[in-house]
Amino acid sequence: MDLFQSYNSLDDLDTESKYLIHKAKEATQFAYAPYSKFQVGAALLLDDNSVVVGSNQENASYPLCMCAERVGLYSLGNTFPEKKIMKLAVVAHKKNHKELTLAAPCGACRQVLLEYEQRQKAKMEILFLSDQQKWLKYLSAASLLPYSFSADSLIH
Ligand code: THU
Repeated sequence: MDLFQSYNSLDDLDTESKYLIHKAKEATQFAYAPYSKFQVGAALLLDDNSVVVGSNQENASYPLCMCAERVGLYSLGNTFPEKKIMKLAVVAHKKNHKELTLAAPCGACRQVLLEYEQRQKAKMEILFLSDQQKWLKYLSAASLLPYSFSADSLIH
């Protein structure tokens, strides 16, 4: 089975995905990114149709910067840990620029996404814009992180 689906334009996506991308775009306004000037927003669609968002939060001590995806995931984990994430969209744009740019989740976020997916025992779709200006819809967090390390690895 394919790991992801590719769409040439936003219009080709389903209504739910378009809505979630819109919510992720809205969330970029809360980014605190004075150092990178790279505004990232993440939106999580939950199994009760509610949406939780996150944006990147930076710090003068650079390694403390936190990605939008993890701000959203940890916010959910801290409020409604029993709700399942059906879909997550992440978008990014440079400060004062409207057009969206590549926003592939970083390696650290893929690791955290995977753990949330395993914890909820259900796949989540992950949407982002690829460098060819194509929207990619990954069908699970696991498919974004092959040969991953997880709790299973600790047991054997
Ligand atoms: N960033 C995210 O928010 N998500 C990612 O997956 C990649 C990077 C943020 C972190 C930092 O504030 C800025 O983008 C530049 O790396």
